[in-house]
Amino acid sequence: MGSNGIKDRVAIIGMGCTKFGEHWDKSADDLLVDAAYDALGSAGIEPNDVDAYWLGTLGQLSGLTLSVPLKIPYKPVTHVENYCATGSESLRQACYAVASGAYDVAMAIGVEKLKDSGYSGLVGAEPPNDGTNSSMTAPASFSLLAPAYFKKYGLDPKKGKEVLARIAWKNHKNGARNPKAQFQAEVPMEAILASPKVAEPLGIMDCSGVSDGSAAAIVVRAEDAKKYCKDPIYIKALSFVAGPGAGHMDTDYDFTTFREVVASAADAYRQAGITDARKQLSLAEVHDCFTPTELVLYEDLGFSARGTAWKDVLDGFFDLEGGLPVNPDGGLKSFGHPIGASGLRMMYECWLQLRGEAGPRQIKNPTLGLTHNLGGFPGKCVSFVSVVGREGA
Ligand code: COA
Repeated sequence: MGSNGIKDRVAIIGMGCTKFGEHWDKSADDLLVDAAYDALGSAGIEPNDVDAYWLGTLGQLSGLTLSVPLKIPYKPVTHVENYCATGSESLRQACYAVASGAYDVAMAIGVEKLKDSGYSGLVGAEPPNDGTNSSMTAPASFSLLAPAYFKKYGLDPKKGKEVLARIAWKNHKNGARNPKAQFQAEVPMEAILASPKVAEPLGIMDCSGVSDGSAAAIVVRAEDAKKYCKDPIYIKALSFVAGPGAGHMDTDYDFTTFREVVASAADAYRQAGITDARKQLSLAEVHDCFTPTELVLYEDLGFSARGTAWKDVLDGFFDLEGGLPVNPDGGLKSFGHPIGASGLRMMYECWLQLRGEAGPRQIKNPTLGLTHNLGGFPGKCVSFVSVVGREGA
């Protein structure tokens, strides 16, 4: 695959993130302005100092969605969408624009206001197609991973459900230490196991919530970074792939992997020079839209050997104090998934952790962080993987 990457050529010099949750009193405009000014403030610059903007959000048609509320007329504002990986896509484009030399300073920003849109995982929303796609809700689609994984690796369903609950328990435990999370309370294992069913075997507590939020990042060329900021973080890899979309029609697909994630992780690791993700990464923010997604991702991202992630979960390997903390900020489980914002919210945790600013969630001496953002469904998705580091070239 011809993917040269931009290792150590671009740095993040400022980030912002709103609290995620039910923002009945704020519009998407308000959230965008809050996240943008949070990021600008952290970089010590003004909106006019940014040469170009990339906005990730669903269902909008133009850059006016940002230029109007942020009052930045006559600036280039590009609107991007790439399923649930939309926020990461905005960052990827902003980084490439700076790396190319076209702009000196760029902002990636994402927003979604889902709560008052009526959006719910209980309602199926398949765009019109040729009729060969099955129409299922998101929880139903991702629920298929669980029995497939349990069967392939000989886990009885009760044990398997305990593994999934342990993932939700961990993420809520981390989210309870995060003032920006939607849900900031620990949830006991018994409550997770007993939560009402949404799509067998998934209960409410296996699902990410529905929330509003916005997050933003400001990027410059690596050699300029220290002019703005004492502790920038450096882009080591950005990889994005779209799969064949064969979905449920592919008889070779067994629902225990996302092939798109395997491909994007291999590409990102090649760009970043990572040979053993389990050992070399200090933390990872992954797309835990549902608990079995996170379980499968551990193996697709190379954190655990095939068929062993469930043991790592029960051993606490992915806990905040474990060998490789995953979703130290609480993940989608604690933040919900305001689509355009999620990928940048994941990066915001890497930004805090690598700069030693994560407070009660701080991981000791982290050097490399990964974000993984998935869009679509098992068998039919797009995948983004980034690696960022505390040290430049
Ligand atoms: N995790 C933890 N707690 C949740 C939760 C979740 N996913 N969803 C809701 N809650 C809590 C609420 O905070 C509320 O608590 P409270 O009574 O203490 O205030 C309670 O459960 C009921 O909330 P409500 O908003 O009425 O829940 P709901 O039944 O409308 O929604 C789901 C529950 C699971 C249907 C909803 O969270 C959902 O649709 N999730 C999936 C979203 C999705 O598919 N995203 C796409 C990812 S690819």
